[in-house]
Amino acid sequence: MVKNDVIKIAIAGIGNIASGLLQGINYLNIFEDKKKKLLYPKISSYEAKNIRIVAAFDVDTDKVGKELEKAIFAPINSTPQFVNVEKTNVEVLKGPVKDGLSNHLLEVIVVADGSETNVVESLKDSGAEILICALPSGAENAVETYAQAALDAEVAFINCTPTSIANNPVWARKFKKANLCLLGDDLQSLAGGTVLHKGFLDVLREQGVIIKDTYQLDVAGGLETLNTLDDDRKQYKREVKERAIKQSFGNDINLASGTSDYLEFLGNRRVGHFWIRGEGFMEMPVKIDIRLETLDGPNAAGTLVDVIRATKVAINRAGSGPISSICAYGFKAPPVTTDRYTAHIWFSEYIQGIRSE
Ligand SMILES: NC(=O)c1ccc[n+]([C@@H]2O[C@H](COP(=O)([O-])OP(=O)(O)OC[C@H]3O[C@@H](n4cnc5c(N)ncnc54)[C@H](O)[C@@H]3O)[C@@H](O)[C@H]2O)c1
Repeated sequence: MVKNDVIKIAIAGIGNIASGLLQGINYLNIFEDKKKKLLYPKISSYEAKNIRIVAAFDVDTDKVGKELEKAIFAPINSTPQFVNVEKTNVEVLKGPVKDGLSNHLLEVIVVADGSETNVVESLKDSGAEILICALPSGAENAVETYAQAALDAEVAFINCTPTSIANNPVWARKFKKANLCLLGDDLQSLAGGTVLHKGFLDVLREQGVIIKDTYQLDVAGGLETLNTLDDDRKQYKREVKERAIKQSFGNDINLASGTSDYLEFLGNRRVGHFWIRGEGFMEMPVKIDIRLETLDGPNAAGTLVDVIRATKVAINRAGSGPISSICAYGFKAPPVTTDRYTAHIWFSEYIQGIRSE
């Protein structure tokens, strides 16, 4: 592989997304034929095998100081092992703790001893060109600390969390001014609850159905769901999910969307319930009642593999600030929202060089 073909990334938060991503890259390296299962097997010249993790940060004593390929299998991460992961030569460093751990997470996670790493220096030393933030939702202060570190180390920032960074004009301006790409907010899983819910509602609306009431509620067993048992964090995540639907449908529908409970025995599984009630022609009642079961780790990693490679394309094109097409494709709360169909067209046009942002 030519040196310039390597996409060097750093990750803050070695939880289920990080496990899905590192395993996903190894999976595609081992089973070449499986890359057909990606929506975009090649983005410009980049395949998943071009992605290399060069730095990792966490605060959990079971992960800090460990080799990355071992840390992703710490018992608290529930993403199952799909493949053998190659040696990464990356040791997980202790990041700034800030408000990273909610009260519920502090019941199950012990913060590692020792001093916090200088994230800016570590990013520079590693040669990373993109920092991915995969911290628990609601960790506002910690997420902003990593966003600032990305600016100071002059690397692009991908915000998988619901904290408003790409969506926040102040942060957007800072990244634009620094000529750095910014992607976010709140990663959208490939077969995730929000994207499917929006999809069902869009199709019904296009067919003339007036939506009256709807909910999409999940139960799940991952760490992130335990985190959102804290009321303020649960509310925070709900608001982002509900906003994603209301942006298309306005305030005229009765809507609830979010995770309703943590069930440890579900592990990495997420069980989503969709319920929709509307009215068709001649006030005909229309009802939908669906159950969806997925795994959080791979579901998020599928999107992230595309977003990372598209971000590298943006870096090569000297992009700066939020890139609307990548954000609309890969995130629940992008700075510019559109329907799913248009988001795919924008993304595809951007990576082909037809669209400028
Ligand atoms: N399918 C998905 O899993 C999915 C989809 C969309 C968005 N998200 C969002 O992505 C984020 C990460 O999700 P996840 O499932 O990987 O979460 P997770 O709870 O499995 O992992 C979070 C990790 O962050 C670590 N952490 C906490 N504070 C830290 C700090 N200050 N510095 C460094 N590390 C710290 C924790 O120890 C843990 O390892 C969440 O905000 C979630 O809302 C997840």
